[in-house]
Amino acid sequence: MTIQTLGVIGAGQMGSGIAQVAAASGLTVVMNDIKPELVQRGLASIDKILARNVEKGKLGAEEKAAVLKKIQTSVDLKDMAAADFVVEAATENEPLKCQIFRSLDEFCRPHVVLATNTSSIPIGRIAAQTGRPEKVIGMHFMNPVPLMKLVEVIRGIATSDETFKLTWDLALKFDKTPAESNDYPGFIANRILMPMINEAVYCLFHGVGTREDIDTVMKLGMNHPMGPLALADLIGLDTCLAIMETLYEGFCDSKYRPCPLLRKYVEAGWLGRKSGKGFYDYAK
Ligand SMILES: NC(=O)c1ccc[n+]([C@@H]2O[C@H](COP(=O)([O-])OP(=O)(O)OC[C@H]3O[C@@H](n4cnc5c(N)ncnc54)[C@H](O)[C@@H]3O)[C@@H](O)[C@H]2O)c1
Repeated sequence: MTIQTLGVIGAGQMGSGIAQVAAASGLTVVMNDIKPELVQRGLASIDKILARNVEKGKLGAEEKAAVLKKIQTSVDLKDMAAADFVVEAATENEPLKCQIFRSLDEFCRPHVVLATNTSSIPIGRIAAQTGRPEKVIGMHFMNPVPLMKLVEVIRGIATSDETFKLTWDLALKFDKTPAESNDYPGFIANRILMPMINEAVYCLFHGVGTREDIDTVMKLGMNHPMGPLALADLIGLDTCLAIMETLYEGFCDSKYRPCPLLRKYVEAGWLGRKSGKGFYDYAK
C-alpha cells in the first residue's frame, strides 16, 4: 500500500512536528485540530522552524515553500476520508483519544492504519474503540520531532504484521530510527524517563535542591543534554502528569505516584514552555 496523504490529528507541538517531517518527506498532509486558530498556530510554528533553517542555510527558500504547500488544514475529522494513514497527536487524555478513534474508524477508509502518538496509554485500549484493531498501532515520536531521531513503534495485542511493517517503513521514510516496544503503560521511553522526571520534581518538593541545582546535577553529572525539570517544561507538565497517572493506574504500584507539586503546577495552568511558565519562566 502506498501512502500519499497523511492525516495528523492535533496541531500542537507534536502534531505540527509530525506534519512538518511528513511534508518534508514528500507526503501531502492534512493537519487537524478543533479550532481554526489552533491549526493556524501549528502552521505558524512550522513556518518559524523552517524559516530558522533557511536563515542557517540548511534549507532553501523554495524548499520551505514546497513543504508548507504540502500541508492542508482541517477542523473536521471527516476530512480524514482523504488520508492513507493517520497519526493522532491530540492531548494525552484517554477518553478524548478514544472518542477520536471512534470517529476516525467511522470516517477513514477501511484499509487505513490509525496510529497514535500517545506517550503512555495502552494501544490495546485505544484499538478496542475501533472495528479495525489490527490496523491500530503506537507511533511515538520524540520532542522536538524534526530534530529527534527516534520513533518508538508499539504493537498492540491485535496489531497485524502488515500494520507494523507499514508503520516501521513510514518512520524510515521520515528519516527516523524506529525501535519496537511492547504494549505496557509508558512503553520503553516513558517507563524509564518519566519516573526520573517525577523524582526530580520530588527533589524540588522536598527541598533537596533548587531547580537549577537539580538540573545541573543531571546535566553535568549524568551527561544529559537537558536537566529533568527543563525537559519537563519542554514536554509539557500536563503531559508529564498524564503519563505518571497512566503508569500509576496501569501498574497499581505506588512507586509511580505523581509528585503533588507536579499536580499543583498543572492545576495552576503552569504547563511549561507552552503556557509561558513551568519550573522556569518563559514569558520573554
Ligand atoms: N510533548 C512531548 O514531549 C510529547 C512527546 C511524545 C509524545 N507526546 C504525545 O503527543 C500527544 C500531543 O502532545 P503535545 O505535546 O503535542 O500536546 P499539545 O498540548 O501541544 O497539543 C495537543 C493538541 O491537540 C489538540 N486537540 C485536543 N483535542 C482534539 C481533538 N478532539 N481533535 C483534534 N485535536 C485536538 C489541542 O487543541 C492541541 O492543539 C500526546 O498524546 C502526548 O502524550 C508528547
